[in-house]
Amino acid sequence: MNEAVLDVRDLEAGYEPGVPIVRGASIIVNKGEIVVVLGPNGAGKSSLIKAIAGLVPISRGKVLLDGKDVTAAPAHTMVHLGLAFVPQTENVFPLMSVEDNLKVAGGILERRQAPARIEEMYAMFPDLARQKRSAAGNLSGGQRQMLAVARALIVHPKVLVLDEPSAGLSPKFVSMVFEMLSAIRKSGVTILLVEQNAKAALAIGDRAYVLVEGKDRHEGVASTLWDDPVVAELYLGQRPLKREAGGAA
Ligand SMILES: Nc1ncnc2c1ncn2[C@@H]1O[C@H](COP(=O)(O)OP(=O)(O)O)[C@@H](O)[C@H]1O
Ligand SMILES: [Mg+2]
Repeated sequence: MNEAVLDVRDLEAGYEPGVPIVRGASIIVNKGEIVVVLGPNGAGKSSLIKAIAGLVPISRGKVLLDGKDVTAAPAHTMVHLGLAFVPQTENVFPLMSVEDNLKVAGGILERRQAPARIEEMYAMFPDLARQKRSAAGNLSGGQRQMLAVARALIVHPKVLVLDEPSAGLSPKFVSMVFEMLSAIRKSGVTILLVEQNAKAALAIGDRAYVLVEGKDRHEGVASTLWDDPVVAELYLGQRPLKREAGGAA
C-alpha cells in the first residue's frame, strides 16, 4: 500500500476570517513521489502550500504529516516535524554568504553533524561549493534557487514543498531547476511542487492536481494529465477538443 507522507484533507484556509481562499482542497503525497499542483493564477496554489506549512490560518480540514496531525502546528515547528518549505521569493538571505545561509538552515541539526551535512550539500550542488564565500544575493537566479533548495534539504526533510521554483528564470535555468528536482527525488526525497510551468513539471512529476478556485478539481497521473482535454480546458486555457475540431478560432 502507498504510504502518505503528506495527507491534506478538505482544507479550508484564508488570510481573513470568513474569507476562505483555499476552499476544501484534498491532496496526498506518497513517499518517494513528486506531486505537482497546477492551476490558474490566483487559484490559491501558494495559499494552499503556505497553509500546509503553517503560514496561513486554517479554518477547516486537516494536515497529516507522516500520519501525525500537524494542522495546528506553528510554522516554525514544521521544519522540525519534517516539512521543509521553499517559498517562491525571499528564500535565501541575500547579504549572507552561501556558506552562512547553509549554516543558519542547518542550525537545527546536532552541532556535530552540521559541517558534514554542509559538505554533502556541496557535493550535491558543486556550484554552491565553488561560491561558498559569495553573498547569496550575487548568485545567478538558478543558483539562488539551488541554494534555497539546499537550505531546505539540509535538515533531511520527510517532504520538500516548493512554490514555483522555476518562476522568473531564463530557459537554461528553468531546465536546470527541473533536472535538480528530478535528481533530488532519485535520492529518495518526497516532493510537493507548485508550478506554472505545467509541461516541464508534469514531465518530472508522478501525479498532479489541478487547483481551481481553491479546490482540487482534477487529479491524475502526471504523464497523461497534459493530454487530458478537461485539464486543457480548465487550466491550459485551451478550448475543448471537440469545439476546436470545428476549426474556427
Ligand atoms: N497575503 C494575502 N492576503 C490576502 N489575500 C491574499 C494574500 N495572498 C494571496 N491572497 C489572495 O489569495 C488568492 C489566491 O492567491 P495565491 O494563493 O497566491 O494564488 P496562486 O498561487 O494560485 O496564484 C488571490 O485572490 C490573492 O489575492
Ligand atoms: Mg502562487
